[in-house]
Amino acid sequence: MSETQFSNSVTLRDNRNGATYDFPILDGTMGPSVIDISNFYKDTGMFTLDRGYTSTAMCKSSITYIDGEKGELMHRGYDIAWLAKNKRYLDVVYLLLNKKLPSKEEYNAFLYELKTRSFINEKILKLFDAFPDRAHPMAVLQACIATLSAYYSKDMSFDDPGEYMEMAKRLVAKMPTLAAFYYRHSKGYPIIYPDLARGFTENFLYMMRSFPHSHVDLKPIEVKALDSVLMLHADHEQNASTTTVRTVGSTHAHPYACISAGIGALWGHAHGGANESVIRQLEMIGTPENVDKYIAKAKDKSDPFRLMGFGHRVYKNYDPRAKVLKGLRNQLIEEIGIDTNLIRVANRLEEIVLNDEYFVSRNLYPNVDFNSGLILKALGIPTEMFAVIFVMGRSPGWMAQWIELKEQESIKIVRPRQLYIGPERINE
Ligand code: SDX
Repeated sequence: MSETQFSNSVTLRDNRNGATYDFPILDGTMGPSVIDISNFYKDTGMFTLDRGYTSTAMCKSSITYIDGEKGELMHRGYDIAWLAKNKRYLDVVYLLLNKKLPSKEEYNAFLYELKTRSFINEKILKLFDAFPDRAHPMAVLQACIATLSAYYSKDMSFDDPGEYMEMAKRLVAKMPTLAAFYYRHSKGYPIIYPDLARGFTENFLYMMRSFPHSHVDLKPIEVKALDSVLMLHADHEQNASTTTVRTVGSTHAHPYACISAGIGALWGHAHGGANESVIRQLEMIGTPENVDKYIAKAKDKSDPFRLMGFGHRVYKNYDPRAKVLKGLRNQLIEEIGIDTNLIRVANRLEEIVLNDEYFVSRNLYPNVDFNSGLILKALGIPTEMFAVIFVMGRSPGWMAQWIELKEQESIKIVRPRQLYIGPERINE
């Protein structure tokens, strides 16, 4: 090949012996290209190391696109700010699963299909009694979803594409019911069943707040706020919990076993558990005057303290979801009132982070969890249920990613290697 002619590849040179290796570059529709290193070990005898997969693409996907530098997020080509302004959560659920936005008729049919799948086998309620009082709802939800696999295990291989959409609709429909049912059980309140006359998001608030034979007060702004929170959590490319769902899916496990594993991954405070940690941190800081002390802790390398709700592996700009949530938060302040002291602490934190060199130089911005907790608290959702709301929102995204995995020509089991640093052989 002449010097001036370049193929769509990179050449790696091993400076220890001058050997060179070529690897193809693959271009996507948008965003960074990838270097296909599938044959790297076969060609070089070496592995690559990428802690936390900061520079590694684990799959090809057409579901969600994120531009971390610009702070952009799209689902199947639709910008999240436009979707949040013009569509409802179920529109986005339908888009993620069916690859297009629904017509009015398709939306209504989809809503009906979810409503008729929103009840659960009553035997699952017995699970709740196996948990100690005050068990974290994420532990219960993870167990409930794993249990669902035992109720829907017609074909253990789950290679029948006709089953995929049914599995997805059933999961999306039952998640709010399981969440609300456990909340009621944990409070000793009577279980409130789904009301098929209500919308998807409204039904969850109804199941959480209603009591038999009594009127329940559900303001439209509250339903809209929760609907937006669910939409903004619907999918987010290959984050830790989605990668977990795909990893477990690569072994051909039951889809609900994959989702249960995803719930476990999301629970951590570095991921979906951050929304709960944000509120607890704001309450711990207590007043705007105390913020400086905690900013110093966050900047102190010897202190493990981190500001929950700030920073993101991908966004090195303002998380576009955080922008939408901030607007919603301010709207709620006027219409239903939010704990203004927490807002004052949050505003002071944000003001410092957006201007202090430590955070600016590390591209640390508010992320989706920074404002979602304030909104959920204003809606009367208990703090320990915040990650459960994240799971409810993310369930269609997880299922869409699982279906995309299953629809590939061939599924390679996820099995990374390692750099071994242990002892050499001791015994012969
Ligand atoms: C979600 O991936 C997704 O898409 C996730 C998510 C989704 O929708 O699925 O968007 C949802 O999980 C949002 C993130 C919620 N987590 C939090 O808010 C927890 C607080 N944030 C951090 O723990 C952290 O920012 C992460 C985990 C989110 C990202 O960590 P990275 O990408 O591994 O970054 P890093 O740990 O290498 O930090 C880079 C630097 C470090 O300083 P230096 O070593 O360079 O000196 O930034 C610092 C970190 O110490 N840093 C922070 C910080 N986050 C990073 N310092 C103070 N407070 C923080 N929050």
